Amino acid sequence: MRVVKVALGERSYSILIGGGLLARLGAECARLKLGARCAVITDENVARRFAATAMNSLRAAGFDPVLLTVPAGETAKRLRVVSACYDRLAAHRLERKSFIVALGGGVVGDLAGFVAATYLRGVPFVQAPTTLLAQVDSSVGGKVGVNLKAGKNLVGAFHQPRLVLCDLDALKTLPRRELRAGLAEVIKYGVISDAALFRRLESGMGKLLARDPVALAAVVARSCEIKADVVGQDETETGRRAILNFGHTLGHALEAVSGYGKFLHGEAIAIGQMAAARLSAELLGLPDKDVRRIRELFLRAGLPVSLALPPARREKLLAAMRLDKKVSGGEIKFVLARKIGAVEFGQRVPAAAIHRALDGLAAAKES
Ligand SMILES: NC(=O)c1ccc[n+]([C@@H]2O[C@H](COP(=O)([O-])OP(=O)(O)OC[C@H]3O[C@@H](n4cnc5c(N)ncnc54)[C@H](O)[C@@H]3O)[C@@H](O)[C@H]2O)c1
Ligand SMILES: [Zn+2]
Repeated sequence: MRVVKVALGERSYSILIGGGLLARLGAECARLKLGARCAVITDENVARRFAATAMNSLRAAGFDPVLLTVPAGETAKRLRVVSACYDRLAAHRLERKSFIVALGGGVVGDLAGFVAATYLRGVPFVQAPTTLLAQVDSSVGGKVGVNLKAGKNLVGAFHQPRLVLCDLDALKTLPRRELRAGLAEVIKYGVISDAALFRRLESGMGKLLARDPVALAAVVARSCEIKADVVGQDETETGRRAILNFGHTLGHALEAVSGYGKFLHGEAIAIGQMAAARLSAELLGLPDKDVRRIRELFLRAGLPVSLALPPARREKLLAAMRLDKKVSGGEIKFVLARKIGAVEFGQRVPAAAIHRALDGLAAAKES
């Protein structure tokens, strides 16, 4: 088992990474000295496969858990579902020392984390991520929240988990498309801060797609280290944490204009990272050969790298980018790369450059 620490003073916690960890959930929670009553929030796909293991492990360690199963998919991240969870927690008489376990992908993590951040003005919570995306990204860092009709993640909080338990065995049943989507965030970590990781991905993508446990353990651990380091320096995103948004300005807008569900988050940010790479070449001197390497790596991971939009949809995409909550004073800011492994945040990008980058992505489709 590997252990990665997130250093945040009294809110510090460990990320445990390894096989068979879900069966140890109860024992690990017992070390946190929390109350006996707890709730496991999960979705229907994950419940079928893993709820029994998690619930039995908690019971065996002396806890009194209740299971809350929400529908699978992004639509569970809404206030109506939050409210239904509150009612179940109240019925199970959860107290301030009680805790919530988020068992599932990023949707469950964001939802259960938000419930934990707000119920009784905040109860402790533990992340047990079961998708690659959740293990390398969403379960670490304390951003929790739900969607509004007006947009994704518009209601939320910073609420750090007390423990993150990444059971690599969970990835065995993950649909292939979801695995690829998680790899988009792993590639992002290479581009934003670790050229050596990027090179390892270039040579080892085959093993990752084949779910080689040693290869997966290494990239999950390295990704968590990078995220933990960035979050440790800037918990609430007043500065450097923004680098984690590489590819996300366009990626989020693309998710919004194409209707949530067409692109998985990882697919949208693969396209977003290609756009950011092209902008980086134009505005920050990212070498063309690095742009090609980034494109090649996404292709090898089976992720999309091009986008052809009719003019009206392109206008919608630009409007959605201006609505992003990261925009301040109406100006769209980008994270851009100087080279693979080094990025700058808060980069102003003229609209004309965005159009050129989108032209480039559309042309890439034809070649
Ligand atoms: N809080 C953050 O910092 C942060 C960061 C990135 C993304 N997110 C959020 O994460 C969400 C996306 O998360 P996701 O990609 O994990 O999607 P998800 O939670 O919807 O999971 C994807 C699908 O896989 C299923 N699934 C989960 N684990 C499985 C397993 N082990 N085997 C088989 N099926 C399994 C789920 O039921 C679901 O159908 C988005 O809402 C996004 O906004 C949050
Ligand atoms: Zn992301």
